[in-house]
Amino acid sequence: MNILVIGGAGYIGSHVTRELLDRGHKVTVFDNLSSGLRRNLFSDAMFIHGDILRCEQLTAAMREGAMEAAVFLAAYKAVGESMIKPEKYSINNITGTVNLLNAASETGLKYIIFSSSAAVYGEPSYLPVDEKHPANPENYYGFTKLEIEKFLFWYDKLKGIRFASLRYFNAAGYDVRGRISGLEQNPANLLPVIMETACGKRKELEIFGNDYDTPDGTCIRDYIHVNDLAAAHALALDYISKNGKSLTVNLGSETGSSVLEVLETARRITGQPIPSRIAKRRPGDPAKLTASADLARSLLGWKTEHSDLDTLVRTSWEAYHQYEDCREAPHT
Ligand code: UFG
Repeated sequence: MNILVIGGAGYIGSHVTRELLDRGHKVTVFDNLSSGLRRNLFSDAMFIHGDILRCEQLTAAMREGAMEAAVFLAAYKAVGESMIKPEKYSINNITGTVNLLNAASETGLKYIIFSSSAAVYGEPSYLPVDEKHPANPENYYGFTKLEIEKFLFWYDKLKGIRFASLRYFNAAGYDVRGRISGLEQNPANLLPVIMETACGKRKELEIFGNDYDTPDGTCIRDYIHVNDLAAAHALALDYISKNGKSLTVNLGSETGSSVLEVLETARRITGQPIPSRIAKRRPGDPAKLTASADLARSLLGWKTEHSDLDTLVRTSWEAYHQYEDCREAPHT
């Protein structure tokens, strides 16, 4: 299939692009390189340096490439920032999606795979969280993801554009075959922060609270390997194109790991001391968040292969450790 991967030079986007290429699809990456990196592009994919806020660029990319599907990963994703700069998230995440849907409608593009998030659920009222759990986002980022899901629903109904909305839990790790060499810039997520501490770019890891109602007092999350996530995108596209039906599914490993467990695993695997200190709680952090991925398993035949904690940490360390000193890692 001819597929436009919007945000394909980013962390998750580059893994998804590699997966689709490996499965024989013809892929064009569309990215404004605001956080994506040129070094994440592949020679067997086309590249368009374009912006989702420029409708005519999206329409041209879809028309000229005779695109049948788009994978949409071009969103801002820093939860904390979304609460301070909602305007930025409204424009990029929501306006960008409306542009995408209108371009799809204008050019006859049939399928959209959308990067949604467990952030749509908000504070969980039961665990593991399945897709029937009420969606009450606690931050503006999660709100934008939920709104986009509603747009997708309406364009499906009115325009016949089928979608797969993939609610990622905590994406982590790097390509198990070492084919992605660009590191995330200014990360705020746990594993990349731990990696930057392990290789000396940061002085210490701040652990945001150790007085939660969990066995070791630190928050529990469901970490899912980015290669497993990438595979789900390809399977979801197969599903919606074969069945002519849209879907919304969780993507998680169904395993909870605490901040301290991730840190201890990283100390063991990297052999680095990784200094840490207990800091105050980060507002909006639920104590525990784990997924039920039953629906993805049964509808897509998806299963995780790389989402054990050791593989998550090992592949991250391989990506960071390829640079003698990750402070010197290239930014392009
Ligand atoms: N944490 C620290 N120190 C850090 C960074 C994180 O202690 O420097 C802790 C957090 O408090 C949390 C855990 O590590 O308990 C994971 O935090 P992340 O920031 O890595 O991830 P979140 O669970 O907050 O959010 C992530 C994505 C969201 C997504 C969500 C879904 O960033 O986009 O997973 O589960 F919505």
